[in-house]
Amino acid sequence: MTGGDAAAEICARIDALAAITEDPPRLTRLFLSDEHKRANDLVSAWLIEAGMSARVDAIGNVVGRIEGARPGLPALVLGSHLDTVRDAGRYDGMLGVVTAIACARELRRDGARLPFALEVIGFAEEEGVRFGTGMLGSRAMSGTFDPALLERSDERGVTMKDAMRRFGLDPEAVPAAARNRGDILAYAELHIEQGPVLEAKNLPVGCVTSISGASRFEVELTGRAGHAGTVPMGERRDALAAAAECVLAVERRCAAEAGLVGTVGRIAALPGAINVIPGIVRFSIDVRAPDDAQRQRAAADIERVIASIAAARRIGLAMRKVHELAAAPCAPWLMAQIERAIAAEGIAPFRLASGAGHDAMTMASIADVGMIFVRCAGGISHNPAESILPEDAAIGARVLRRLILDFARAEAETMR
Ligand code: HGY
Ligand code: MN
Ligand code: MN
Repeated sequence: MTGGDAAAEICARIDALAAITEDPPRLTRLFLSDEHKRANDLVSAWLIEAGMSARVDAIGNVVGRIEGARPGLPALVLGSHLDTVRDAGRYDGMLGVVTAIACARELRRDGARLPFALEVIGFAEEEGVRFGTGMLGSRAMSGTFDPALLERSDERGVTMKDAMRRFGLDPEAVPAAARNRGDILAYAELHIEQGPVLEAKNLPVGCVTSISGASRFEVELTGRAGHAGTVPMGERRDALAAAAECVLAVERRCAAEAGLVGTVGRIAALPGAINVIPGIVRFSIDVRAPDDAQRQRAAADIERVIASIAAARRIGLAMRKVHELAAAPCAPWLMAQIERAIAAEGIAPFRLASGAGHDAMTMASIADVGMIFVRCAGGISHNPAESILPEDAAIGARVLRRLILDFARAEAETMR
C-alpha cells in the first residue's frame, strides 16, 4: 500500500461520498434518507470490487464480508459510520469505512489468507441528528437497540418506524441485525481524532485508550408569548431569557472540572417573531466525561439548576434524557497490537482518550474494541473545514493493514 496511490484513492472516495448530500454544497446525510441509500449503494459497490460480499442489515448498516481460511469463521470487524451531522466535515466516519475497504482490497490482491473472516461495516446512524439519539446502527448490531426508539419522530414528525418502512426496512426486524459475541473476534475503528492533540504532538496517528461517555437531554421551557412592545419587563415569562440563563449554567458547571464538557447544540424559540416574547423554547444538552460518575454528577447538577431557574422565572419545564452511553475502555491487548503496528511504520506510538463518541463504544458490549486516530487539521470536526493530510490517510491505511496482518498472526498462533 504505497503512499501516493492509496492516499489518492482514499481521498477520491471520501470526495465521492461527500457529494452525496441533502443540501449541497454543504454535507448533510441523515439516517434512512435517500442520501443514506445512495451512500449504501456506493459503499456496497466498493465492497464487492474489493472482493467482499455486501448486504444491508435490518437497521440499514452496510455489511461487507470476506471469508477466512474456511467459511463461517469468527470475524475481525472494521468500520465506522456513513451518516453525518448537518454541514459536516467529510472525514468523520467515512475515513474509517473507506480505509477499511482499501485494506481489504489490498490484502486480497496480495493473496492474503486470513485465519478469520474480515468484515467492514458502514454503520447507518451514529450521530443522532435525525432522531436525537445516536449509535443506532451499532446498537442494533450489538443487540442493545431499544425498540421504544422506533416511536421517536424527526423534525417533520416522521417516526423512525415509518422512515424505516419507506427505506425498505421492517421495523419489527431490527433484532435480526444483532450479532453474537462469538461471531466477532474484535472490533477496530480508524477515525479522525476530531481534536488537536496529535497535531500538537506532530504525530500522524495515535492509539485510543478510552471513549468518553455521554448524556443527552431535550429541554422544553414554557413561558408566555406576548407583545414585545407592551408587556412590562417585570411581568414577562420570557422562555428564551430563561433558556439563556440555562445555557450559561451548563457552560459554568462543565467548565468547573477538567475532562468534563457540556454543549447546548440546538435551540429553537417559538413563535420566532421579532416582536413576540418567546413563549416556548426547546434546546438540547450534551454532557460528556471520561469518567461516568463525573458525568452523572454534572448531569444531576444541571437538572437541578435548570429546575431552579425555571421556578424562579415562573416558567414551565419538561426535561428528558434522550441518550445515555457509558464510557468505553479500549482493550489493552488490542491497544498493544495497534501500537506495534504504529511503531512498525516508524512512528512513535502515542496514547490518547477520545472525547468524541464512536461506534466502538457500543460495539464494546459484544467485543473487545480498539481505535486508531488520524490527525486532523486544527482538530476541527463537525465543520466543513475538517481536513486531513493525504499522507496521513496513507499512514492510517498502512497501520490498519498491519493491524489486520498482525492480528492474523496472533490468531493463527492461538489456533495452533
Ligand atoms: O457526537 C459525537 O461525539 C460523535 O461525533 N457522534
Ligand atoms: Mn461525528
Ligand atoms: Mn464519528
